[in-house]
Amino acid sequence: MDKRSDTAHTALTLNGRIVEVAARVGERLSHSLRERLGARDVKVGCNAGDCGACTVLVDGAPVCACLMATQQAAGRCVETLAGLRDSAEGRALHQRFQGHQAAQCGICTPGMVVSAVALLRVVPDPDEDQVMQALGGVLCRCTGYRKIIDAVMGKPAPLHGTGAVGDAIPRVDGAAKVAGTEAFGDDVAPADALVIRVIRCPHPRAAFALGDLDAWRAATPGVVATLSAADVPGLNAFGVIPAFVDQPVFAEHEARFRGEAVAAVVCTADTPLDLSGFPVTFTPLPAVETVDQAMAPGAPLLHDTRAGNVMTGGFVQCGDAAAALARADVVVEGRFTSGFVEHAYIEPEAGFARMVGDRVEIHACTQAPVMDLESMALILGWPKERVRIVPTAVGGGFGSKLDLSVQPYLALAAIKTGRAVRIAYSRGESMQSTTKRHPSDLSVRIGATRDGRLCGMQFDGLFNTGAYASWGPTVANRVPVHASGPYRIADYRASAKGIHTHCPPSGAFRGFGVPQSAIAQESLFDELAERLGLDPLEFRAINALRNGTPTVCGQVFDQGVGIGACFEALRPAWAQARAECTAFNAKHEHVKRGVGIAGGWYGCGNTSLPNPSTIKAGLRADGTLVLHQGAMDIGQGANTVIAQIFAQALGVPVAQVTLIGPDTDLTPDAGKTSASRQTFVTGAAAKLSGEAMRASILKLCNAPEDAVIALGDGGLSVTGAERHHIPLDRMPRDAEGYVIRSCETYDPPTKPLDANGQGHPYAQFGYAAHMALVEVDLALGTVKPIRFVAAHDVGQAINPLLVEGQVQGGIAQGLGMALMEEYLPGRTENLHDYLIPTIGDMPPVDTLIVQEPDAHGPYGAKGLGEHVLIPTAPALLNAICNATGVRLHAVPATPSRLRDAIRDAR
Ligand code: FES
Ligand code: FES
Repeated sequence: MDKRSDTAHTALTLNGRIVEVAARVGERLSHSLRERLGARDVKVGCNAGDCGACTVLVDGAPVCACLMATQQAAGRCVETLAGLRDSAEGRALHQRFQGHQAAQCGICTPGMVVSAVALLRVVPDPDEDQVMQALGGVLCRCTGYRKIIDAVMGKPAPLHGTGAVGDAIPRVDGAAKVAGTEAFGDDVAPADALVIRVIRCPHPRAAFALGDLDAWRAATPGVVATLSAADVPGLNAFGVIPAFVDQPVFAEHEARFRGEAVAAVVCTADTPLDLSGFPVTFTPLPAVETVDQAMAPGAPLLHDTRAGNVMTGGFVQCGDAAAALARADVVVEGRFTSGFVEHAYIEPEAGFARMVGDRVEIHACTQAPVMDLESMALILGWPKERVRIVPTAVGGGFGSKLDLSVQPYLALAAIKTGRAVRIAYSRGESMQSTTKRHPSDLSVRIGATRDGRLCGMQFDGLFNTGAYASWGPTVANRVPVHASGPYRIADYRASAKGIHTHCPPSGAFRGFGVPQSAIAQESLFDELAERLGLDPLEFRAINALRNGTPTVCGQVFDQGVGIGACFEALRPAWAQARAECTAFNAKHEHVKRGVGIAGGWYGCGNTSLPNPSTIKAGLRADGTLVLHQGAMDIGQGANTVIAQIFAQALGVPVAQVTLIGPDTDLTPDAGKTSASRQTFVTGAAAKLSGEAMRASILKLCNAPEDAVIALGDGGLSVTGAERHHIPLDRMPRDAEGYVIRSCETYDPPTKPLDANGQGHPYAQFGYAAHMALVEVDLALGTVKPIRFVAAHDVGQAINPLLVEGQVQGGIAQGLGMALMEEYLPGRTENLHDYLIPTIGDMPPVDTLIVQEPDAHGPYGAKGLGEHVLIPTAPALLNAICNATGVRLHAVPATPSRLRDAIRDAR
């Protein structure tokens, strides 16, 4: 060690090679591996030992590299995924993870595989408990863990087919995820990039003043530039809905939530920067942090134009709910509340930017590249042509990466310094500053007649939308449309309002408010069923929407209403679980089992708004078939699904499709990855594009529609009544080098809602029903899920294994929302205080795929991404009630909350 400096030279063996690294004393091994030794297969999700993404083997034992000082690794043998993937265990796991689709976004996969290698070296044939033990320190937010368990145990891979629609093939982009070579937001910056640090408000609300930034910069070694609102050349605001663009890039004079950006510092990469002397003074101001506080008379207004702190509202009415409730035989009612839920993707927001000529290029994780481009052009005051968005791989999004985060800071810093710049949010600033699921306060009344028919419902919802609008207007509009659940209710009145508070902005999170409303509605349905003496499944089946019956918006679907089929699919498991619980409970006094059921639906795509996707494809003279696939695959499988649909429509094997992924210079706008729209909307565009290319090819040789197209050996042949060879290399090429091309757009047919919310908000709904079996310790209040059975109507499963993966991952998130997750600003801003489900929390999930073809979806397919967690939390709450007799009206059902409720009930 060099005692004269704070840098030490450390020799260690990395993946079989002796290396020496000059690292700061105490520097995290994860940092040295990634930044000094190029081991970007080591991922960082928390820098606190909570997520396990950084797991490496040190002398054969799994270690969180973020918790080990580099100097502690001196003389030791460090192995990362890159060094393990050619081992016998590594090769086996690579194949098995692919075969089970055990990697979704892939950010946790290196940590999972490294931990699994350590296990398999000692226990070649592990059982489920051993896998759970070995992988217990690595968090995954996407998969629900079950496929990872199956892969590590070496269960047979459930693959079938070669890639036609309906075939369970491995992800077309899975190999890089499993190999650890996928490049996420923090993996792509050049070595000489400057680093951005954002200065944030430490109070829920504060006035602030910046001092002399230039003087501070000049006096502070390593600082190249500072940024503040004064550096924003265009609009110092962003947002996702044009009428609600209200969030400043940098606050001016007053910050409205803890974690809001007020300035930024751009410095050299190895600058050990102490920001405590940064010239800013904050003066805390009275803040409103709950909906009740924000709506109280005299409460401070967050936005001058939004009286009463009401951002906006949504409303749906049909029939006469009050009259129907007055004549109902049974009426139940309740007030239900939920808190903030954090997305907790394992990849914090990250990226880099650089100037290329007079354009700025932003490489960052995102769910919405074209929306990012449009917002950045406004912020910079530049024409859109001068901005390029090149999305990196996304280590989980679930809605939050629809909003801008790092992009403005990257662009402004690159423009100001003229150099490449990078940023990676810490876990704390990711949690403080990015959007959350809306806390909700819902008052609901539902009535039914003696024969078990629903006859009226009133719903009033208040949603804490935080300091800025983000997707709050979408939540306010969506919830009244969905709050009935997928049931026939002729007399209905629902309103929802978004209320501003001095909290982080609430935004999009799988379901846009519908998971919260489903908790209230499905809980009250169980109460109604009980009061009517009906089985909970039977009650729902009686009232389930059917083809031809109108929704609460007056929309009638002639086909594809699959909620009834979902409940029917659950019947055998329901009957078995009910009997199991009865038998179990007869023998146990202190621990009780219960089973719960819930349904859900979700309209795919934007609500009554244009929602187009465009897919382009081209055939090169050498026979290469290129698909310009601009839909962000954030782990859900869009790359695979869109390719399967396109290949099927064209009539070639999916293996012959070469993907060009999202890039605003290279791919047309496929819209945002949001609202369960990609399989449906972009899938439909891919089908049209495949069909258009097929028609062009058939026309070249006047072949019949059922002719067989074959690509191979650099050529194209078409075989109908006779075989034609098409000499691609002699055909004229366009500017992109294509000899045949197609570019098609699909926009789902919707109709605007009128003042009563009547219209056609979505061209398609997907449907789901979940059953949860739980065990509750009555003294401790702990809930142990035993198993889930999930029936999902997906219209047509394009890739059934992807469907299962989505369902399992969604259930894990629903489980977290129901039992453990609540974000408290200032208190749970890390992954040890904010708990998400671990591998040990997830029981087996039996996925039942229901296929009621949709009239508009490609090959009948429906969206799925939101549906997968909507029924989970209410099913769990109903199961808890079944076990204990206690009905919780607030989530999460933490042990203390449930224990208190059980005690009070007694
Ligand atoms: S980054 Fe090391 S445990 Fe999360
Ligand atoms: S696949 Fe595990 S976090 Fe995304």
